[in-house]
Amino acid sequence: MTDPQVRSFSRAKARGIARGLRAKDFLSVLDLSHEELDDTLALAAQLKAERALGRTSVTPLAGKHVALLFDKPSLRTKSTFTIAVRELGGNVIDPAADVALGSRETVTDVAKNLERWVAGAIVRTFAQARLLEFAGAAPSLKVVNALTDEEHPCQAIADVLTLREHLGDLRGRTVTFVGDGNNVAVSLAHAAVMLGMCVRVASPKGYELPKPIIAECARVARWGGLVEVTNDPIAAVTGADAVYTDVWASMGQEEQIDARETIFAAFQVNESMMDAAGPEALFLHCLPAHRGHEVTDAVMDSPQSVVFDQSENRLHAQKALLAKLFT
Ligand code: CP
Repeated sequence: MTDPQVRSFSRAKARGIARGLRAKDFLSVLDLSHEELDDTLALAAQLKAERALGRTSVTPLAGKHVALLFDKPSLRTKSTFTIAVRELGGNVIDPAADVALGSRETVTDVAKNLERWVAGAIVRTFAQARLLEFAGAAPSLKVVNALTDEEHPCQAIADVLTLREHLGDLRGRTVTFVGDGNNVAVSLAHAAVMLGMCVRVASPKGYELPKPIIAECARVARWGGLVEVTNDPIAAVTGADAVYTDVWASMGQEEQIDARETIFAAFQVNESMMDAAGPEALFLHCLPAHRGHEVTDAVMDSPQSVVFDQSENRLHAQKALLAKLFT
């Protein structure tokens, strides 16, 4: 995780240029109005049903190219965006990581080149500020956040789609995120409170959800949605409708793995923690999972686990986001 002040700065900057899907980019869940979030989820469900029948009713990317720029590894995000672009009628280009953002030429120059060739760019990088610089340099290029150090908004849209499929209306439901208050927790909190959920985030001291996120969530929450932060994972999962976790050390934090194994040990989602949540509670994970660390095999492979539904829903959610951006 990056320094909290840097994260706060870049997020504040993001809010300054955010204009909603109809304008240009999808860099944060907070770029969506409530209506746009509702419409995106409805379209994702529609596209999922159509795909099961071998159909796609919308091809807004026909004749267009989209660039995939990934500064970090990816299985799910890159695969599902590739399929999504193609199923919406478009083509992808996939420049090698060594020519991506800011390593061979400036971020701005990369954006200005791509703008001449492609209609959109799916970008996974480090600081949100770098993504903002890229998007700001290319006014006619539609840019999607495929994960930054601060936010993972495409994951969150798939997550709430999955929760809705299993729980129905999310108003008044509770999802507990157990672990690092990281980019996945941030975007989940944004999306879930916009749908009226209670989001509990249980983290070790010093690894809590950043305080500015709580204010952001209060600003966009509907129907009594709220965020609660605690250092007690068992209390946090008790009575929850869903328990969510992520790796203890995110990409770029590899040197912290050993220290975090100790710090996060009491935050492992295991059978005992799921017992506290109750037999009806769902288990979610954005993946990749480090089995035996933040989650046990028994939980990952249990009937309560919906992790592969989440993974499938990355495709449907991202197709809907792209369709909204390019229509
Ligand atoms: N959850 C997620 O973003 O997976 P990848 O890192 O494989 O894209």
